Amino acid sequence: MRVIVTGGCGFIGSHLIRKLLDIKKIKILNIDKFGYASDHSNIDEKLVTCNQSNYHFQKLDLSNKEELISVVENFEPDLIMHLAAESHVDRSIDNPSEFISSNIIGTYNLLEASRNYFRQLDQHKRSKFRFHHISTDEVFGSLGELGQFSEETAYDPRSPYSASKASSDHLVRAWYHTYNLPIVVTNCSNNFGPWQFPEKLIPLVITKAINNEIIPIYGDGNNIRDWLYVEDHVDGLILAATKGTIGHSYCIGGYGEETNKNIVHKICNILDKERPANKSYRSLIKFVKDRPGHDKRYSINSKKIKEELGWDAHYGLDKGLEETVKWYLEHLDWVKKTLEKSNYEGERIGLKSS
Ligand code: NAD
Ligand code: DAU
Repeated sequence: MRVIVTGGCGFIGSHLIRKLLDIKKIKILNIDKFGYASDHSNIDEKLVTCNQSNYHFQKLDLSNKEELISVVENFEPDLIMHLAAESHVDRSIDNPSEFISSNIIGTYNLLEASRNYFRQLDQHKRSKFRFHHISTDEVFGSLGELGQFSEETAYDPRSPYSASKASSDHLVRAWYHTYNLPIVVTNCSNNFGPWQFPEKLIPLVITKAINNEIIPIYGDGNNIRDWLYVEDHVDGLILAATKGTIGHSYCIGGYGEETNKNIVHKICNILDKERPANKSYRSLIKFVKDRPGHDKRYSINSKKIKEELGWDAHYGLDKGLEETVKWYLEHLDWVKKTLEKSNYEGERIGLKSS
């Protein structure tokens, strides 16, 4: 099995590669532009204990179509798992052009490289090939108090990030219907876990608390996200990529609906226990100006992937959060190094327009 993973130096991609490296007779090519949120330590740690010759890294921006075509052709993949994307909503508000370029044009270039490669394959190889596009629940927009997103939900993206991901989902489906490229799409809810860049809510809150800085909660803190531990997502990705029905999409999530306020309280409770200070970490919380176009609630119905592919989550929100907080406490050096390398100091992003 020869697998190309794009975005493998990111949070989810690096966890995916770790898991793939446990599979025998697999060759992996990780294509990543190595952007501000990229890091290779997660994979490096794993490579110490497995056959390094099964893994290759190619630093490449998906905007380079010519190079991409030749890299795909030369590697001869059976499977492409496409995770590379700009992924932070707040950054998409300040600088949408990066999201158009990576998430839409980048996906278009990868689809064209895949189509070019696919049409040269013999019948046997064609029947094995899959293009798996990894997407988000944010393409479905924002829910009220009731209801859940499923594979049938109409697209209604609200931020430049989610609109760029929705566009990429549409392109992937168009390449299936028009060119018969064998695709599978997954749409997942909010991931959390070790090695996540500290600009996203959970690692940002942990980092701020440890540094005795203000913990910012946007708006009234009652927005709801459906949190899934990253390893559970990765299990779902491998199932969908290898056993999913061609042309179908699968929603993944559904285990951890919680308000932002409660998530922050839970993190503070764990920190109060694991690293007591002279007052509770909750005293650092501050309600700040809301995110423009802030989606109210996400919630996923995972019935299809459970029933068709036998996926289930193994970590609940509380167990996952506890492991995550402890991991960050043990990896403060990594946090410091990662922030320094990316020139990000935890400042508020996404308010340039207001
Ligand atoms: P991340 O930001 O941690 O990693 C993304 C990686 O993609 C980075 O290493 C970056 O360098 C790379 N990349 C971006 N643009 C590229 C380009 N033009 N060429 C090559 N590489 C490029 O993101 P993540 O949280 O790991 O998310 C991975 C994927 O999963 C994304 O497609 C995202 O939309 C999707 N997703 C994320 C979540 C979540 O909660 N984090 C949930 C559902 C879906
Ligand atoms: O739903 C899946 C999506 O989840 C992924 O597609 C995205 O790539 C990923 O970034 C994530 O998007 P969110 O916008 O939901 O994640 P974020 O961690 O940025 O914010 C989570 C919630 O917390 C959101 O309601 C905004 C709020 N928030 C965020 C930050 C960074 C705060 O209240 N304070 C903060 O400082």
